[in-house]
Amino acid sequence: MCGIIGYVGFKEAYDIIVTGLKQLEYRGYDSAGICTQHSQSLHLVKYKGRVENLQQSKIQGTLGIGHTRWATHGKPSDNNAHPFVDSQNQFSIVHNGIIENYLELKEELRKDHTQFTSDTDSEVIVHLIAKYYEGDLRDAVLKTTKRLQGSYAFCVIDKNHKEIIGARNGSPLIIGVGKNENFFASDVSAVIEYTKEVIYLNDFEIAKITKNFIDIIDFEGNNKPLAIQEVEWDIEQAQKQGYKHFMIKEIMEQPKVVENQLKVQFDFGSKPKTVHIVACGGAGFAGVLGEYLIEEISKIPTKFYHGSEFRYRKPILHEDDLVVAISQSGETADTLAAIRKAKESNTKTLAIINVVGSTIARESDDVIYTRAGPEISVASTKAFLAQILSMYQLAYALKNEVFTFQDYKEIIEQLLQLDEQIKQLAEKYFKYQNFIYIGRNRNYAIALEGALKLKEIAYIHAEAYPSGELKHGPLALVSEDMPTFAICPQDEFYEKNFSNIQEVKARNGRVISLATEGDEKINLISDDVIYIPKVDSILYPLLETVPLHLFAYHIANFRENDIDKPRNLAKSVTVE
Ligand code: G6P
Repeated sequence: MCGIIGYVGFKEAYDIIVTGLKQLEYRGYDSAGICTQHSQSLHLVKYKGRVENLQQSKIQGTLGIGHTRWATHGKPSDNNAHPFVDSQNQFSIVHNGIIENYLELKEELRKDHTQFTSDTDSEVIVHLIAKYYEGDLRDAVLKTTKRLQGSYAFCVIDKNHKEIIGARNGSPLIIGVGKNENFFASDVSAVIEYTKEVIYLNDFEIAKITKNFIDIIDFEGNNKPLAIQEVEWDIEQAQKQGYKHFMIKEIMEQPKVVENQLKVQFDFGSKPKTVHIVACGGAGFAGVLGEYLIEEISKIPTKFYHGSEFRYRKPILHEDDLVVAISQSGETADTLAAIRKAKESNTKTLAIINVVGSTIARESDDVIYTRAGPEISVASTKAFLAQILSMYQLAYALKNEVFTFQDYKEIIEQLLQLDEQIKQLAEKYFKYQNFIYIGRNRNYAIALEGALKLKEIAYIHAEAYPSGELKHGPLALVSEDMPTFAICPQDEFYEKNFSNIQEVKARNGRVISLATEGDEKINLISDDVIYIPKVDSILYPLLETVPLHLFAYHIANFRENDIDKPRNLAKSVTVE
């Protein structure tokens, strides 16, 4: 994944790059570095660890590039951190993506006596640029791109010229258009403090920026127009505003999110024969819910696939089917690959995306934007809620009806008031090492999400099962050391769920139940109960995520984990 940024202008590049990298840390945070140009030489600092480590070593210059890393090739270390420089210290690069043929390229460059300083795939780029440089940096980049296989966005500077060259093939790269200053970045959040005007580079494009000039060509050398777009949100939305973590801030923003999301229009000309939903991680559980809802509401056969599985299982796609991709970032490599696969079969694609202008949004036939606003915490909460709401909207739209949910915003406000009760519950449970989550039918999708959140941010082993599956294996694990979180609203499955919970109780298992207000009976078989308001059966999943997310959040907080940046993860996964 990784986040990259470049600055050329009149201010100290170092300050702007450090601030930008902090915004990009959600993309990776195991090492960080900056290279600036000053007095016709390159100055480099890079360390294993977080961006804040850079603060100890300020370097001068009004032009520079920076990087925050999520390791793929080579473990996190000072040497493997970006930027990389060539042997003569003349060029420096930062890279996001994977160079698949790097071993061959390394071999070839070694024959030319190139010395490598890292175990990364990325370092070959800077040595190739040095090899091909004949006085024009962009020409050298153009030649280099012809040698690279894989996916990349990279930025390069040299020690003599006040320009940055950026190239894109498969990983995101935007240009921030300023006044007497210009920027490159992996996404808008890194530059929004300075400009709201951006250009989204396309694959196979190379851009050159100076402080008052931007020029884009494609990999064949043809000139491309500058399509400048205005960003709709501002910097306040991407700041913590007094909350301890972005995650809790984003949970608390959900009343506004659902209000905005309910206004989104879904229209379909013709009914698809089959719906295929593709997504990864948490977005995938929105997809699982979509599978249940679309079949139930619109009666169209629907299938969910993990993004990483889709293209390899050779899905049977027809021209009158619909492939729906769900993604917060719109950059997830596996989900993007699924969209491309669908296009090969001429199957119509619809993307449900949060980040405007992202790659999946641009490559799909239709896009519907979720209205969650910028989400910074690696663990998705408000974007997930917008995604599951969009599944209801989609399911009804496929039946030519509009989904409505009166009072939904007020219900979410009410659910957020559970915060204190759930915090107390978390204090009671935060030392357990294992959890089971159960839910039936559509609520199973939410059980999956609850378990994922506990894994991601609390580092607790948590597994989700359809309630009825418990007796087919997982029940063997149940003991007083392994609590069960049972999603048991008063819907059409209530009695069945009730029996499943009793099976847990009969084996000395502890049970936390998520139940409907007024349900006293559930107390007989639960150690603790969280009550949610009574709504139509089908709507319960829309209420269940708030308490589940709060539970995971408070548990992780009691365990003093780095909640917004959980270990080993990144928010946007642009590698396979
Ligand atoms: C990563 C993140 C998850 C996220 C998934 C899909 O694995 O850590 O939190 O759900 O990617 O991301 P997307 O941007 O496609 O929704």
